[in-house]
Amino acid sequence: MAREFSTPEQASVTDPSEMATSFGFRTVREGEKQDLVDDVFHKVASRYDLMNDLMSGGLHRLWKDAMVSSLRPPKSGAREWRHLDVAGGTGDIAMRTVERSNRTVMSTVCDINGSMLGVGKDRAAAAGLSQNIEFVLGNAEELPFPDKHFDAYTIAFGIRNVPQIDKALQEAHRVLKRGGRFMCLEFSQVDVPAFDKLYDLMSFHAIPKIGQVVTGDGDAYSYLVESIRKFPNQERFAQMIRTAGFERVTYRNYTGGIAALHSGWKI
Ligand SMILES: C[S@@+](CC[C@H](N)C(=O)[O-])C[C@H]1O[C@@H](n2cnc3c(N)ncnc32)[C@H](O)[C@@H]1O
Repeated sequence: MAREFSTPEQASVTDPSEMATSFGFRTVREGEKQDLVDDVFHKVASRYDLMNDLMSGGLHRLWKDAMVSSLRPPKSGAREWRHLDVAGGTGDIAMRTVERSNRTVMSTVCDINGSMLGVGKDRAAAAGLSQNIEFVLGNAEELPFPDKHFDAYTIAFGIRNVPQIDKALQEAHRVLKRGGRFMCLEFSQVDVPAFDKLYDLMSFHAIPKIGQVVTGDGDAYSYLVESIRKFPNQERFAQMIRTAGFERVTYRNYTGGIAALHSGWKI
């Protein structure tokens, strides 16, 4: 596919794949963004978990623990409880959810990238969790699951990579049962004045360099940092979740807003 870039004005609005979106700080057609994102994750998959630790100083583990503790999967196994983790990559959220349920619930990891899922499958097998976790190749914008199928939908550090966020949110709403919970963990807007300068320095200089050394691809990590800055802030994203039909939408910041956990219910 040709790597052309267009401005929002140039893009046609009749064909959704022609609508302009961002790939980091570049404006690209929506149809093109997914290919670019897929390239990034194919390249970094084998070093993705290590890079997460290096980039966040291990903080991503605490944020993910906090997410799953808020999700509160049932622990008794008395009733069936289905969990879907979209853009689930190497399986961090699914593995935590299953462990927290005393290995009683079933998690489905759905991701568009086979390389990321492959790493996840191996990790789940190594942890003895293959019985509880299935890995499904699929697009967040067109989930390969029936309506009203899941009790919980999670997505961690995934939604900013999806070209049509509104569509992904509508799909989340569709596949959840009534009474189902939506949770999204994502990088967000830092709200501590002095801290944001330090965070910028770290993000735009240190992270692409660490990425270059560890994965051999600094550009992939420039994309990841830039995509964080293009993502809507906490309030705007909460509004998008409401627009998709969720109710009782709330969020909480982690580490001064570096990350935020949004929650909503399908009522
Ligand atoms: C930053 S990783 C997050 C992985 C994992 N959730 C975590 O927290 O470690 C982003 C993931 O989003 C996936 N992704 C990107 N676009 C997607 C789409 N349209 N549908 C499903 N997954 C997508 C990528 O393949 C990648 O695995």
